[in-house]
Amino acid sequence: MLQRIVKPVLLLVLLVLTKHTYATEGMWLPQLLSGLNEKEMKGMGMKITAADIYNINKGSLKDAIVSFGGFCTAEVISEQGLLLTNHHCGYDAIQKHSSLQNNFLENGFWAKSAVEELPNPGLFATFIVRIDDVTKAALQDVTPGMSERERQSAIDKRLNEIRQNARRESWQETMIKPFYEGNQYFLFVTETYRDVRLVGAPPSSIGKFGSDTDNWVWPRHTGDFSMFRIYAGKDGRPAPYSKDNVPLKPKYALTISLKGVKQNDFTMVMGFPGRTTEYLPSEGVKQTVDVLDAAKVEMRDAALKIMDGYMRKDPQIKIQYAAKFAGTANYWKKWMGEMQGVKQTNGVGKKLQYEAAYRQQMEANPVWKQKYNGVLDSLNGYYQQVQPYAQARDYYSELVKNVELFTVGDRLITFLNDVHERGEAQYETMRQQFLASMQGFYQNYNAKVDHDVAVSLIALYAKGVPAQFAGAEFTQIWQENNKDSRVLTDKLYAVSGLTSMDKLTAFVQQPYNTVVAQMWKDPATRLVMAMRKGYVDNVSRPLADLQSNINNLQRTYMQAQMDVMGNKKSFYPDANSTLRVTYGKVDGYNPRDAIHYDFYTYLDGVMEKYVPGDYEFDVPARLIELYKKKDYGRYGVNGKMPVCFIASNHTTGGNSGSPALDAYGHLIGLNFDRTWEGTMSDINFDPSICRNIMVDIRYVLFIVDKYAGCTRLIDEMKLL
Ligand code: ARG
Ligand code: ASP
Repeated sequence: MLQRIVKPVLLLVLLVLTKHTYATEGMWLPQLLSGLNEKEMKGMGMKITAADIYNINKGSLKDAIVSFGGFCTAEVISEQGLLLTNHHCGYDAIQKHSSLQNNFLENGFWAKSAVEELPNPGLFATFIVRIDDVTKAALQDVTPGMSERERQSAIDKRLNEIRQNARRESWQETMIKPFYEGNQYFLFVTETYRDVRLVGAPPSSIGKFGSDTDNWVWPRHTGDFSMFRIYAGKDGRPAPYSKDNVPLKPKYALTISLKGVKQNDFTMVMGFPGRTTEYLPSEGVKQTVDVLDAAKVEMRDAALKIMDGYMRKDPQIKIQYAAKFAGTANYWKKWMGEMQGVKQTNGVGKKLQYEAAYRQQMEANPVWKQKYNGVLDSLNGYYQQVQPYAQARDYYSELVKNVELFTVGDRLITFLNDVHERGEAQYETMRQQFLASMQGFYQNYNAKVDHDVAVSLIALYAKGVPAQFAGAEFTQIWQENNKDSRVLTDKLYAVSGLTSMDKLTAFVQQPYNTVVAQMWKDPATRLVMAMRKGYVDNVSRPLADLQSNINNLQRTYMQAQMDVMGNKKSFYPDANSTLRVTYGKVDGYNPRDAIHYDFYTYLDGVMEKYVPGDYEFDVPARLIELYKKKDYGRYGVNGKMPVCFIASNHTTGGNSGSPALDAYGHLIGLNFDRTWEGTMSDINFDPSICRNIMVDIRYVLFIVDKYAGCTRLIDEMKLL
């Protein structure tokens, strides 16, 4: 009996194994797909070619993708320049147009016609026209013995030249960025449109449904989308805002598929991922999760608890601190997920295994051994050396970021330094600019909240940062106050000149020299000066030297890995806010023992989570009505309304708003997040649990069409 079932079981195991041997790790350069990835992509089910994705001779998928304001991604979904991105990417713009009478955050916003579309000064959309490899020219003056600084200046000189000589049209711009830790350089010719108008957004109870509780979490039920439109001059070229501008006629607009996806279907995400560090040595990974993430989480934990306490008691504070709380909570939660994910998947152990394999191969080849012997060990050694400095840096930056009084103090110091540099004659003008830049800050400032945050965080800082890094001046202040952060903080907030706009204005109204002299007298500025001095002298300067050694070794180690391990896998460059393609398959995952997550969520799940009146889980009445009537139009399937789905695409911050495309390059969803267990993908991608979260395009269209009745937008899209 046993004998007979062994064979089929083995076969099954093999099948399951081979099913998962596709590589979904990687954020690939679109112009290199044909050489590196096309075959694998087709093997995974892709039906188009690399030339359909990136083509400089005719419109291709890449011509529909823009960097949205430099912090998110968006895509063109109509021949009239209509843009789709996330609600959380458009949040700032939506908030700025909102007032108590017209609360677009709360109620949503839909422009009924072109004239109602709202301009957003400062917001831009950048297309990538062309990407060229300029490595040879960039590195031509680099010689082996150069210091990091010499190397950089030799490169910078060449980059200037390359940029100036690059072939481009008068309205286009160029940018060059290092890749593979500085082993390669690519030139980007870009077109940036600066008249980008708000077209539509659902209410936050749809666009931000689940808010912080559901952030980084699967199963998810958020309709995280908003719509904008690119306007161009009459000639179709970038032009500053003008009411005479016209909707952009794009080179390429995405076609939308209403077919949905099944398990194991090929998906691809294109966008502008911000930053990853996938090639850290084992010591770097260990340090990130055990030391740096832990320090930052500790600081934010304390700050968030205090904010939350006040926000729950006081509706005014809740409004003032909502955005700050969300911003602070986002990465706080991400780092916790990262720590847990690396542990759970044995990320450090896997790096060690990889390093052992690398070492063995490298040492077996005399040429490599000659070139690379000792590089990895030195790099790991430097990471150990840098650890206390890096930890002190993170404590310091979290302190200055989360205690708002210190943020102001820090900005004041920077302003005074700038005046010093540009000459005191500039003081008057620069003072006006500085005060103007601080106006908005105090509207959302509450000294009581900030005081309590300071009590907690100063104590954690003093505990976490040894005196040799905090510096003599800080240590003295700390001792003067009996190492009691409450005593110290009470004093600060009682007499400081920084706790209100009026006080700050009065403070900098004095002559420059008086202000500078006062900086060491006002208790708050004195503390900020002391901490900053300690940080600059004892942390950031030594850190810069160590970091330059690390950069050098990291670059050599990158090249070494590509030489030594190149026959085992292809290498993709770390994210650096440039256009990338990542591909994977629609699939659920098993986060923990005995738990399996499916890959689709439905409107039924929204209703399961519904808590009437709750600030995270309320559901608008109109949506409930549509749900009850099952009035889903052509967007539902078998009486159900799909909401979100997951796949194994390798994404990171900046990929928000990226299109999810199917095997034919058709738009099927909108990327907006990752799953909790997989947030460690920035340092340790693991295909077994790393998933990106997308909102189904049918849910987006259902909300636009059925919920908001904004059919004019549906009419301009190409639906399949
Ligand atoms: N975690 C997502 C990203 O990193 C979404 C953040 C916005 N949502 C929120 N609840 N804070 O940007
Ligand atoms: N939510 C992120 C963003 O805003 C995406 C991610 O980190 O997965 O870009």
